[in-house]
Amino acid sequence: MGASSFVPLNMIGVGFIFPFLIASCLSPHLALAKDGVTRHYTLDVKMQNVTRLCHTRSIVTVNGKYPGPAIVAREGDRLLIKVTNHIPNNVSIHWHGIRQLRSGWADGPAYITQCPIQTGQSYVYNFTITGQRGTLFWHAHSSWLRATLYGPIIILPKRNASYPFTKPHKEVPIIFGEWFKSDPEAIISQALQTGGGPNVSDAYTINGLPGPLYNCSAKDTFKLMVKPGKTYLLRLVNAALNDELFFSIANHTFTIVEVDAVYVKPFDTDTLVIGPGQTSSVLLKTKPSNPRAAFFMMARPYMTGQGTFDNSTVAGVLEYAAGDGSSKQRPQFKPTLPALNDTSFVTNFSKNLRSLASNNFPANVPTKVDRQFFFTIGLGTNPCDRKNHTCQGPNGTMFAASINNVSFSMPTTALLQAHFTGQSNGVYDPNFPTRPLTRFNYTGNPPNNTMVSNGTKLVVLPFNTSVELIMQDTSILGAESHPLHLHGFNFFVVGQGFGNFNPNNDPKNFNLVDPVERNTVGVPSGGWVAIRFLADNPGVWFMHCHLEVHTSWGLKMAWLVLDGKLPNQKLLPPPADLPKC
Ligand code: C2O
Repeated sequence: MGASSFVPLNMIGVGFIFPFLIASCLSPHLALAKDGVTRHYTLDVKMQNVTRLCHTRSIVTVNGKYPGPAIVAREGDRLLIKVTNHIPNNVSIHWHGIRQLRSGWADGPAYITQCPIQTGQSYVYNFTITGQRGTLFWHAHSSWLRATLYGPIIILPKRNASYPFTKPHKEVPIIFGEWFKSDPEAIISQALQTGGGPNVSDAYTINGLPGPLYNCSAKDTFKLMVKPGKTYLLRLVNAALNDELFFSIANHTFTIVEVDAVYVKPFDTDTLVIGPGQTSSVLLKTKPSNPRAAFFMMARPYMTGQGTFDNSTVAGVLEYAAGDGSSKQRPQFKPTLPALNDTSFVTNFSKNLRSLASNNFPANVPTKVDRQFFFTIGLGTNPCDRKNHTCQGPNGTMFAASINNVSFSMPTTALLQAHFTGQSNGVYDPNFPTRPLTRFNYTGNPPNNTMVSNGTKLVVLPFNTSVELIMQDTSILGAESHPLHLHGFNFFVVGQGFGNFNPNNDPKNFNLVDPVERNTVGVPSGGWVAIRFLADNPGVWFMHCHLEVHTSWGLKMAWLVLDGKLPNQKLLPPPADLPKC
């Protein structure tokens, strides 16, 4: 090991294809750790002027880069990431999808596992990557700062371990984002004041670039130069704030080999759907001989809700190297994407995702269930609280969103600290409802009363509880697909369907053999999804819709998993530099 433990960065192609991905700190100083090495990163959160759509804005970045730098490590490595806040806002960073075994202090959601890092302060995130390999991402986890504060996490297999698929010629991160002409913080703060829906984005981006279908953006186009007859590994991340996306490359097929840092049974598709918070590695085989053409890669939203949304399309270009220097005047091909509301495409796609479930990578689906939960997921309203102003939500109310009709109120101190120090009184209630207090026809005619209740409630689970959770979309203010994300765990998606979940019939069809394992799953619009996970990670774990507007409206809750009896089943003590509120 030692110096030879450097991840060969040129292997993943960040060197010349993605100069923006190279952090000033990307030659991490390495030291031996138990199973892997320790990698050090320095992330400086600072403002930077960036121009898109002919309009310059000062945006929040890491190390002045947009998107931010890649965090690259191998399975088994320990990461020490020093984050320093040089901006006026409080900030914290979440390592989305990292299991954080016993290291909840490093998870990152503000006021859940830590107080945010204040201006001028630093915090070292310290965690080890255990039993995961593939593509994840990091992003800010306070307010809407993740609009521009995000970057990929690339977890390579252990040294001397290989991929369970063709070794790619090159690896390429492809990160989808959303660009706003105005400050996203101003957009959400105004929306929360008026009670109305927030303004939508002005463009989608691939690796920060909107591409030729937008005004004055042809020069800001992501280009992937490829060679014929090679296999490329695209590491896809949906870092958009509020949109699930369809993605396709003209005249090419993807083989999906991994989602959310778990290998899947390879399957071929020419279009994929990726929700915000979801990640995926796909193989792209280039044409056997040079087609002398440019192929557009395009993404646009999958949208089921009733609100307005950004229905524009981001495009990048897959181009075969000419070899003869004549890169101009090539025929261009564009892919056809599904209709914006094509739910049946999405259903088929998600049914094709299966765990690899091999000897080396088994699917350890919990077969017995200790506790079952039924959560309704959907929108709602709060009464207007403005003096001398009307509210802009439905019928003069304020938009809200809830789980089991509880809209989560953010605490002002961190839940994990309150739990660890035994000072939870007045911070949270340990009585989150295990099922809706009032039953109704969830996907039928919505009830007249759409008001939510508000509170900071948690579910408390003993260590090693095996959990089954049914998440049921409601039609309150319109049925809508919700990408639900769970921190601290992967879960198995054992079933899904439309209409109301039927506890007598639906479980008969659950897949307990090779269900896909992931950290973010779409609750189908007007339907339900069933997941299982083993609560083997002590700590406080946030769960929320990864449509940021829904999180802002309260579509979030947390699980408190208690310590187990054995020493290695306990949450570690907080680090000395844990930020203060
Ligand atoms: Cu990617 Cu709690 O988030």
